[in-house]
Amino acid sequence: MIADNLFVGDRVRLTAITKEDLPTLARWHNDAGFLRLLDARAAKPQTADELGKWLDDAQRSPNGYLFAIRPPELDDLLGWIELDGILWNQGVAWLGIGIGDRGHWGQGIGGGALRLALNFAFGELNLHRVQLTVFAYNERAIALYEKLGFVREGVYREALHRDGQRYDMVLYGLLRREWAG
Ligand SMILES: CC(C)(COP(=O)(O)OP(=O)(O)OC[C@H]1O[C@@H](n2cnc3c(N)ncnc32)[C@H](O)[C@@H]1OP(=O)(O)O)[C@@H](O)C(=O)NCCC(=O)NCCS
Repeated sequence: MIADNLFVGDRVRLTAITKEDLPTLARWHNDAGFLRLLDARAAKPQTADELGKWLDDAQRSPNGYLFAIRPPELDDLLGWIELDGILWNQGVAWLGIGIGDRGHWGQGIGGGALRLALNFAFGELNLHRVQLTVFAYNERAIALYEKLGFVREGVYREALHRDGQRYDMVLYGLLRREWAG
């Protein structure tokens, strides 16, 4: 039987992101700690308008899927998760995720959203490989990726320079046959 609950899990569901979500996104994207977990570019506060452009581009892209992460029964925005830069001929995608409020970290929300996004990537998009990079200081994210079966494939040694110290960036990949579902 085919799954009819692609976008609904125990703890979260995936939906579209809408313009109404932009003020919440802008609040998160003004938090330097959050930005420094996500992006190697210099942390920079972003307005709802700037994030609106990101949203428009993501929604128009034929090579990506951007989802809102919401609780099962409510419309609150908990985070976003994205498959992007998809190379359709190779069956390869990049994955990114952000849960905006620190109070929501460590409650299984990221794991729930990743499970749905990976089921979608392998079961609906028929991708072969999902890959991501993560900063070596992001221990929570690394623990979660490894728990889900991502394989540590390589290290970009000392690729980051923050607060006077250099840090590695790590490449993780998950193949379709390695995904437990
Ligand atoms: C990384 C992120 C997506 C994880 O989502 P989450 O909802 O916090 O994760 P979960 O609760 O599903 O799982 C986290 C796991 O890491 C473990 N963990 C928590 N803090 C940890 C720490 N400091 N060190 C190691 N492991 C940790 C938890 O115990 C949990 O494992 P468990 O389910 O076996 O108990 C989320 O914290 C986030 O968005 N962070 C900010 C942005 C970010 O880092 N994005 C990823 C960039 S690559």
